[in-house]
Amino acid sequence: MDLKSTIRVIEGYPIEGVSFKDITTLLKDKEAFNYSLDLLEEALEGLEFDYIVGIESRGFIFGAPLADRLNKGFVPVRKPGKLPGEIEKISYDLEYGNNELEMHKDAIGKGDRVIIVDDLIATGGSAKAAAKLVETLGAEVTAFEFLIELDDLNGRDVLKDYKVISLVKYDH
Ligand code: PRP
Ligand code: MG
Repeated sequence: MDLKSTIRVIEGYPIEGVSFKDITTLLKDKEAFNYSLDLLEEALEGLEFDYIVGIESRGFIFGAPLADRLNKGFVPVRKPGKLPGEIEKISYDLEYGNNELEMHKDAIGKGDRVIIVDDLIATGGSAKAAAKLVETLGAEVTAFEFLIELDDLNGRDVLKDYKVISLVKYDH
């Protein structure tokens, strides 16, 4: 199956110059969604880890079912003000605008190994911020997994010290 053909590209959203990769068309196609999870699952074969960490919001869509398939727990990295317990917080820049991410302090800790999952890597800012949260809590990032990688934004360089898996690449 050609996964890329199920992703809709919308030019100029949310701002001029951005070529938005719309995964809603993939998600509503049950075969494409199922196949994308197959590929994400297969790519982790041979890696040892304890949890799947998903980045809100779109990272939850892939991270949670992947955790279930792999019989691992799911840990959310959330946008600000959503987690009720004690949190660790980080600020970072996005492709457009900026953002903050938070994680429960007791969600993971020393000795835990995690896979960080998101739908897409652009600048790598969100992923790097999530890794910093994971590492601040004493845990280790085994790999990153993305459905989509935007090549020209060089997010992979930001994550050069890590294993990075992506399924579908775009130039921009
Ligand atoms: C998008 C995307 C990634 C991130 C990638 O999320 O889902 O999480 O940007 O960009 P980066 O590599 O430059 O950090 P966004 O915060 O826009 O919103 P979402 O809640 O829809 O996932
Ligand atoms: Mg996101």
